[in-house]
Amino acid sequence: MGDVEIEEVNGGVNGGAEVHQGEEGLGRGRGEGNRMYLLWEELTVALPNFGNGPTRRLLVGVTGCAQPGRIMAIMGPSGSGKSTLLDALAGRLAGNVVMTGNVLLNGKKKRLDYGSFAYVTQEDILLGTLTVRETITYSAQLRLPSSLTRQDIDGIVEGTITEMGLQECADRLIGNWHLRGISGGEKKRLSIALEILTRPHLLFLDEPTSGLDSASAFFVIQTLRNVGRDGRTIISAIHQPSSEVFSLFDDLFLLSGGEQVYFGEAKMAAKFFAEVGFPCPSRRNPSDHFLRCINSDFDIVAEALKGSNRITELQNTLDPLAHLPTAQIKSLLV
Ligand SMILES: Nc1ncnc2c1ncn2[C@@H]1O[C@H](COP(=O)(O)OP(=O)(O)O)[C@@H](O)[C@H]1O
Ligand SMILES: [Mg+2]
Repeated sequence: MGDVEIEEVNGGVNGGAEVHQGEEGLGRGRGEGNRMYLLWEELTVALPNFGNGPTRRLLVGVTGCAQPGRIMAIMGPSGSGKSTLLDALAGRLAGNVVMTGNVLLNGKKKRLDYGSFAYVTQEDILLGTLTVRETITYSAQLRLPSSLTRQDIDGIVEGTITEMGLQECADRLIGNWHLRGISGGEKKRLSIALEILTRPHLLFLDEPTSGLDSASAFFVIQTLRNVGRDGRTIISAIHQPSSEVFSLFDDLFLLSGGEQVYFGEAKMAAKFFAEVGFPCPSRRNPSDHFLRCINSDFDIVAEALKGSNRITELQNTLDPLAHLPTAQIKSLLV
């Protein structure tokens, strides 16, 4: 744990030095010139096997784009390549994989500069013995340009606390395994607060609502929407959102086994599934329906239960989808 925390601080110090180059970008996040259109074409990420069997493809020729002022959900079963897609877009793939295809930022092929984008990882790396306000203040002091005065920094810190809805817990300890602290939802909003201090125009998040109850999850994504309102481009991998959370997203990118199933407006996805022959039952959460259609784990469960006498019960209770293997459903969708 200690090592991880030290690494984070180092990251901040290094980052602090680099921020100076991109300084003019800071504080101008609301300007028109900083709008980011991110486009990816035929993106394939492969894991070479060096002669030991076939190359495994983690992403297979996916194409899409993200626009300013909109928030995109990347959805799919576990292992379908959501984090891989985020990493590929942010230019932070692991060294052992090979990427082909294009990632274009405002029409140009270029690396994302430090400070222009932020990435909120799935794990929160926070120091449990600090309060929320202390954490944001230290991070601001490390990462914001040293030309800013103390008052400027305090202003940014307080603004960020309000923006992320952290006023009530600002002076509470974060806590850890043996110290009672803030809730999971508050931790996640704090992690996002730390990343938006430098006013990035492009924000990536990996499963920010995992492990949260539906109300906290809703609060996190609702806050994100507010962050995105002034023209930021937001892309978030998300796991099993409730229908309320799902409805907060503008766009949807649906993956299954590294393949693209759907890309487009989130509210049009139900129509797409219905047209292919899999309408969402009226009282089912649409995102559950989409994942049910493409998650091949259900086949494995059905296969495992076949010998058991409970399967008859299962067949009676589940809908027609249960009689069609997901591989078959997927072939109709992709
Ligand atoms: N650097 C890597 N080396 C080997 N396998 C990887 C690497 N990155 C991802 N994978 C594999 O690719 C698949 C997709 O992973 P990931 O993108 O993390 O899925 P998700 O985020 O949708 O759960 C998984 O089976 C994972 O084990
Ligand atoms: Mg993941």
